[in-house]
Amino acid sequence: MKVTGPRLVVLPEPGAVADEAARVLLDSVGEARAAGRTPVVGVATGSTPQPLYARVAEAVATGAADLADVWAVALDEYVGLAADDPRRYRAELLRTVVGPWGLDPGRLLVPDADAPEPDVAGAAYDARIAALGGVDVQVLGIGRNGHLGFNEPGADAGRGTHRVRLAESTREANAAHFPDPRDVPREALTQGLATILRARRLLLVATSEAKAPALAAALRGPVHPDCPASVLQQHPDVLVVADEAAAGLLR
Ligand code: PGA
Repeated sequence: MKVTGPRLVVLPEPGAVADEAARVLLDSVGEARAAGRTPVVGVATGSTPQPLYARVAEAVATGAADLADVWAVALDEYVGLAADDPRRYRAELLRTVVGPWGLDPGRLLVPDADAPEPDVAGAAYDARIAALGGVDVQVLGIGRNGHLGFNEPGADAGRGTHRVRLAESTREANAAHFPDPRDVPREALTQGLATILRARRLLLVATSEAKAPALAAALRGPVHPDCPASVLQQHPDVLVVADEAAAGLLR
């Protein structure tokens, strides 16, 4: 297989990034249907994809898109939050994706972070994704430390969904959602890099100067565990949509 490497689209500002990424996401859904598959969209939490999710919701609201047949597959879930905690990624995705896109809530898959045996739950998650026919398009953000999902620096690129310890920098980045920074979970269940790389198409969105060093390391640096997102260089269909600030170290 010829791998040409990630394609990069740089746009002036986050609104344009959202427009372009929404177009690619909806095109990917259409391609899945045209190929006779039930569309499966991988969804990330975090702030970067929110404008993209809002654009897709607008397309649904105006009747330009209908996503009632779509499955949504989460990238990761915190371990250790109460079942009804609104900061659970299942809860966040119900609010930001499932409701606004008009998806069937029964078609949202999230790793089972309450499972007594995380390895079993991780393998079961990957098996469910495979049984759906695989992810057609996986939305990704990038961490300031180069993480993908919760695959932190040092992650083994060969692993499927598994339990991880969060990097302290990740816990700090996510602390805004918790009244006491000590309450940020220390662990999560994340799609592994091998799971992510099995998606047919990867759609990474990056905005703001804060992401520029990680994006440059991911796309221009060596493929190395120090920057988990560098594995993107090994996938045949990656589109990175970035604003000028995030792409500032790529030129
Ligand atoms: P953010 O998170 O979009 O909230 O910056 C991205 C990530 O950590 O992967």
